[in-house]
Amino acid sequence: MLQNDLLLRVLRGEKTERTPVWMMRQAGRYLPEYMVLREKYGFFERCQTPELAAAITLQPVDIIGVDAAILFSDILVVPQALGLEVQLIESKGPILPNPIKTINDLQRIRIPEVDETLNYVFDAIKLIKQELNGRVPLIGFAGAPWTLLCYMVQGKGSKTFDEAKAFCYTQPELAHQLLQMITDTTIAYLKGQVKAGVDVVQIFDSWGGLLSKEDFETLSLPYIDQIVQALKEETLVIIFAKGAWYSLKEMVATGAHGLGIDWCIAPQIARQFAGSNIVLQGNFDPAKLLSPVPVIEQEVKKMLKDFGGHHHIANLGHGILPNVSVDHAKAFVNTVKEYSLVSTE
Ligand code: CP3
Repeated sequence: MLQNDLLLRVLRGEKTERTPVWMMRQAGRYLPEYMVLREKYGFFERCQTPELAAAITLQPVDIIGVDAAILFSDILVVPQALGLEVQLIESKGPILPNPIKTINDLQRIRIPEVDETLNYVFDAIKLIKQELNGRVPLIGFAGAPWTLLCYMVQGKGSKTFDEAKAFCYTQPELAHQLLQMITDTTIAYLKGQVKAGVDVVQIFDSWGGLLSKEDFETLSLPYIDQIVQALKEETLVIIFAKGAWYSLKEMVATGAHGLGIDWCIAPQIARQFAGSNIVLQGNFDPAKLLSPVPVIEQEVKKMLKDFGGHHHIANLGHGILPNVSVDHAKAFVNTVKEYSLVSTE
């Protein structure tokens, strides 16, 4: 039994005594305790060693007091499991030295047996669940197929992912084959995470909003939909498609339990698009955590008011930035905890 199951109750549509809060990328470089482990071990070593992944996952629960833990891992472990080399180079971000450009490249990758290639994640989840000992729920995750295609084709981060788009526009059949392979792997991977003990899964479509509505609904949403259909009976599912506000209504139709939104759409407008029943998660601008603490407090209260107090999970609109101080992250979380108690009465 969980001592704090606020997140789960909100995702099931229940009214709760206050709004739950966590932060995307809450286990990361803004925490001095994370930096200590980062000095000693490589990025994928941290992901692949259950004891390290567990220690990092628990840091924000212990230090910041969030209402949920999120597994420490990365969306790029799935391209790795498909057979692509992935390097994480400091200050450059992820590099995939042999990206997918042609049919021959596609033939190099294989749908893996997740119990073999990604077993270290399942072991980490089991250990985290033990160490959490019921304090808060554990969120598992995977990248959306479109966002993973972006990295697998572009070979690195990008502002536009133009080469990934060019691949889809010039070789649509190959693109859909690749998206389907990623989808099949992701479904098996997330089912493995649920079996290992996660309470919720979030699908990160960080680059969904680079697409037009029509392209999002061709290249991204149908694959997210397959994942949601395969998982929604056995766990709670949140879709976070950054920037894809224009398809919120279509995302509701998948039957997901929650939708993440970023700060470029006002909560009231997102609510109009998404309808009154679905849970919305977000949407504090991560850069606003660089404001003075009194400004953070004031802005968090405004956000809570704008969401109306129910069917809401407080979060940032994207990952926390590395230059945010721990005190400012705490101010965000504590303001949600204190203010939402009063405002939902
Ligand atoms: O939320 C959490 O605390 C859990 C851990 C988590 C990481 N990556 C750890 C990480 C999660 C949920 C992710 C998801 C992820 N990874 C996404 C989707 C979410 C988003 O932010 O859009 C994406 C696009 C990636 C790919 C990725 N991984 C990038 C672009 C980078 C480098 C840039 C950056 O933000 O650091 C990574 C590396 C990465 N993943 C780090 C962490 C803590 C930093 C590694 C380090 O320098 O120690």
